[in-house]
Amino acid sequence: MTYDVEKIRSDFPILSEKVHGKRLAFLDTGASAQKPSVVTDTIASLYNKTYANIHRGVYKFSQHSTDAYEAVREKVRGLLNAKFSHECIFVRGATEGINLVAQSYGRAFLNEGDEVILTTLEHHSNIVPWQMLRDEKNIVIKVVPITDDGQVDMDAYKKLLSPRTKFVSIIHVSNAIGTIVPVKEMTALAHEVGAKVLIDGCQAVPHMAVDVQDLDADFYVFSGHKIYGPTGIGVVYGKEELLNAMPPWQGGGDMIASVTFEETIYNELPHKFEAGTPDIAGGIGLGAAIDYVLDIGFDEIEAYEEELLAYATKELTSINSLRIIGTAKEKAGIISFVLEGIHPHDLGTILDQEGVAIRTGHHCTQPIMDRYEVHGTSRASLGIYNTKQDIDQLVAGIRKAQSIFG
Ligand code: ALA
Repeated sequence: MTYDVEKIRSDFPILSEKVHGKRLAFLDTGASAQKPSVVTDTIASLYNKTYANIHRGVYKFSQHSTDAYEAVREKVRGLLNAKFSHECIFVRGATEGINLVAQSYGRAFLNEGDEVILTTLEHHSNIVPWQMLRDEKNIVIKVVPITDDGQVDMDAYKKLLSPRTKFVSIIHVSNAIGTIVPVKEMTALAHEVGAKVLIDGCQAVPHMAVDVQDLDADFYVFSGHKIYGPTGIGVVYGKEELLNAMPPWQGGGDMIASVTFEETIYNELPHKFEAGTPDIAGGIGLGAAIDYVLDIGFDEIEAYEEELLAYATKELTSINSLRIIGTAKEKAGIISFVLEGIHPHDLGTILDQEGVAIRTGHHCTQPIMDRYEVHGTSRASLGIYNTKQDIDQLVAGIRKAQSIFG
């Protein structure tokens, strides 16, 4: 199949909107992806025609919504190649997923002096939950540095691993600088010392095929809105035996088998971790997004985005006084850069006037900014709908900014 980007673009109505009278070049998919109309139509149709709460009613619409929601769990299983669909827990997003693991697994199984390894590349959402646990349980956080090109320093990682290492929590693809981290190798090394591993797959799942069994991940999290689905829904994958051993995190309806004032018996997986009415429409919308992406196919997506990344890197490199931050050999479609003499927020504001949407600032990764001794960067992040025209518009906008700040 040839990659038909114009057909894909036509599935995303927002891409035809004008911004300040200009063609929209949307280069902020890393923050949140745009939605194909199949996702928004699915949600509208649910609310307009068959919506009801799930797991609670014997009537037709409740059954329909329950079946549609649970069918998505199977789609998620397929997306991640998990062994069982009940290993896929629905949460609000990756942030909630990491908090769930830190609070449930971490509180139950990590003790004073146990070491948790993170890397410099982590998003704040994979730092702060472990700091909160550290303050509660006196665990020790160790950080693997990165090399100048933005890759995890594997020698340093190997030196940090020891029998004291009980948990390794690592990003799969850096949201700030695009590095694809060797998570499979890191997981195998962590397992050698008996540690469990969580992988934050937010920026990996939209761009590449992920196989949690092949990675041997103990936990894998992602957010639906980054894979062209709605906000408010995400997934924690966990190995069955770990999830079974973990205590529930939040208490409430649906996560119980029976309740008296004396005792509560918890529900089985996955419901044990899904207290309260979930984001039903978000879940069903996520199912439509997964179908949409799988229909295009990850071989095609990866090849297309790789080519576009190479083009963007070449074009940006040709600009005077522009420095790309993060030049690892293995990168997904994210390019961060700084421009001499122009603050990222000023650049972002000028680009907006040109119809170009990028993210500026620290990208919720202040330790990476500290590593490169910058306050922030400008970041262009690619999605399935981007074209060389978007990159050309970005480059023209940067040159315009340079002429203004001259
Ligand atoms: N984590 C998201 C980003 O990288 C919000 O922009």
